[in-house]
Amino acid sequence: MRLEGKVALVTGAGSGMGRATAALFAAEGASVVVVDIDEAAAQRTVAELATREKSFARACDIGDSAAVARLFAEVEARYGCLDVLVNNAGVGQVPGDGFDQYQQRLARRSEQLAAGVEPDVFTDMIVDLTDAGWQRIVDINLGGTFYCSRAAVRLMIASGRRGSIINIASLSALSGEGPAAYCASKAAVIGLGKCLARDLGPRGIRVNTICPGPTRTPMMQSISREWQQALERAIPLGRLLEPEEIARTCLFLASDEASAFTGQTLAAAGGMMML
Ligand SMILES: NC(=O)c1ccc[n+]([C@@H]2O[C@H](COP(=O)([O-])OP(=O)(O)OC[C@H]3O[C@@H](n4cnc5c(N)ncnc54)[C@H](O)[C@@H]3O)[C@@H](O)[C@H]2O)c1
Repeated sequence: MRLEGKVALVTGAGSGMGRATAALFAAEGASVVVVDIDEAAAQRTVAELATREKSFARACDIGDSAAVARLFAEVEARYGCLDVLVNNAGVGQVPGDGFDQYQQRLARRSEQLAAGVEPDVFTDMIVDLTDAGWQRIVDINLGGTFYCSRAAVRLMIASGRRGSIINIASLSALSGEGPAAYCASKAAVIGLGKCLARDLGPRGIRVNTICPGPTRTPMMQSISREWQQALERAIPLGRLLEPEEIARTCLFLASDEASAFTGQTLAAAGGMMML
């Protein structure tokens, strides 16, 4: 029971690795605030927690600063403290991100290459990325991490807790493979985490970032079976990660066992990237 008596908040906990993390934290004794933009999904997660009586679910768009402030006011009223924040909620694709057009051009270029002709089609990912598409991805992946971290730190300071903040970025932040707004926002999450780790270290608040590799969650279902197989071949362990493996990495960073770790970037990626 490594998190007995602790209060944890996990964003995007209605699905995938956030859901697995909430379940593992509860199994280790934590009260868990399960946050997701999808209220029904958040409720389903809470219903399965070992600590469901002392946990609760809340619908919140973490890209909305005012909504995040209301969420943390409720956490303060209910528990008076916070020990662990997992900034997990994130999006890879939104309307207006130009990814469909990019994929069409990529397919045409691949056909030309396969046919042995000099390709005259280029992928040009950025050309169809609209302001709105860029802004929404940045608002959620980076803005949400900022809004939640700020509110969590205020609460950790007020309650005198030596907390742990865990950001979920992505291997894409390091490799540049993925949609432009996604790679950029996830890379910024790493920078924000390092800055906060340096600043908050003297208070005993630790901040670390996990870069998951391709992980078997609903987010992965948007890519084709062939693409998944290509990813598996590129991973030294020869398989996609499971959400429970990311959850165990979060548990390590949340627990006192990681007392030496702050400002670190951990690639939980089956060896796909070696830092
Ligand atoms: N699956 C992968 O291969 C992979 C790889 C690297 C990084 N990641 C990152 O891991 C995190 C979790 O991804 P996952 O694969 O479990 O995805 P997922 O789609 O299964 O879960 C993401 C959850 O976040 C919620 N969410 C989306 N926007 C939100 C918002 N504005 N406010 C609150 N909640 C919101 C969704 O409703 C969903 O329940 C994401 O940050 C993602 O970018 C995933």
